[in-house]
Amino acid sequence: MNIISLENKYQLPTYTKLPLIITKGKGAYIWDQAGKKYLDFYGGHAVALIGHCHPKIIDAVNKQINKLIFYSNVVYNDQRALTAKKLIDLSPNQFASVFFCNSGTEANETAIKLAKKYTGRDEVISFIGSFHGRTLGSLSVTGNEKYKKHIGSLMPNVKFATFGDIESVKNLISNQTAAIILEPIQSIAGVNEAEAAFYKQLGKLAKSKKVVLIFDEIQTGLGRTGKIFFSELIGVSPDIITLAKGLAGGLPAGAVLVSKDITKSVQVDDQGSTFGGGPVICAAISATLDVIKKEGLVKNANRYGDILTQKITGIKHVTSVTGKGLLLGIVLDVPALQVQTMLLKKGVITGTSANKNVLRIIPPITITSKEVYLFIKQLKQVLEQGTYE
Ligand SMILES: Cc1ncc(COP(=O)(O)O)c(C=O)c1O
Repeated sequence: MNIISLENKYQLPTYTKLPLIITKGKGAYIWDQAGKKYLDFYGGHAVALIGHCHPKIIDAVNKQINKLIFYSNVVYNDQRALTAKKLIDLSPNQFASVFFCNSGTEANETAIKLAKKYTGRDEVISFIGSFHGRTLGSLSVTGNEKYKKHIGSLMPNVKFATFGDIESVKNLISNQTAAIILEPIQSIAGVNEAEAAFYKQLGKLAKSKKVVLIFDEIQTGLGRTGKIFFSELIGVSPDIITLAKGLAGGLPAGAVLVSKDITKSVQVDDQGSTFGGGPVICAAISATLDVIKKEGLVKNANRYGDILTQKITGIKHVTSVTGKGLLLGIVLDVPALQVQTMLLKKGVITGTSANKNVLRIIPPITITSKEVYLFIKQLKQVLEQGTYE
């Protein structure tokens, strides 16, 4: 039996998969079982923020694995303490503490719980088109019906506003609103960004109504959009930021950055996680943050994001390029799926989105000029020479 048949037979069939058996990765490249090399502009689902198998991550994890693989939050640990400090030092001034978990969905669950407790209110406002995760709480605030079918009731008191439309938020906000949760660039929806004024008005509105503003920076954070946090780029100060994806260099991790005021409201047993903040993961988070800083990756994301946007705009079939830094949506007048398939044949991996005309690129922010120009060349060939339905 080959690998594809084995996986199809024994893994619960919840995913659409590319027909690839990937067995190796290095930097911005991955290799299949037969040794074919691919340029990874999908970044392993936005996880390969600092590239695949970064040597500093391998080194940090190896060192820690030989010392202590795991002990829970019932004891103190050097890696956890130092990593928490490192994350807070990197964050805007309003943040005082971090909660460690294992994934993005858990980070958002935590954010919602903290906001409800802090405000003593029960309603949450989210946005149509957003994605926040698959566990029941995060799913409840996800603004795409596709993920919510056939599962009965979700968390009550969630309202959905129109992304980019402040009036629609004003219409929903009340003295029962605990939180507004925002995916500031809606990635899976098709890399949708709002006008700068919307974010600012949202920040002001949340503050004036004493509503907790949660920024889900699971895709936008940690340098990908050309600043450590997208919220800094747009000049908004959320009360909570959630992180995951590339946070631990490819290992499973999530984190919740919590403001000074909310931190003061938290008590023992308000939240918890067995594996969250384990020593190996914290060693990997710490190494990831060092790599981002030491290799100047925030600048890199900014620079190559600009170059990609500039060079891709104007290629045949491209109507616009959306997003920031290295979270980009290539808006096409042909089906993105067809372009994705043709690029794959040429050894380039990209992503699609809920918008059938948007090709998503989320490469490692370690990419070099060579990789950027290789991608542009291949995309150009596919768009100029392909025939589309
Ligand atoms: C913006 C955003 N939030 C939350 C999540 C959920 O993260 P996870 O799959 O780690 O639970 C994702 C995952 O794609 C995401 O893109």
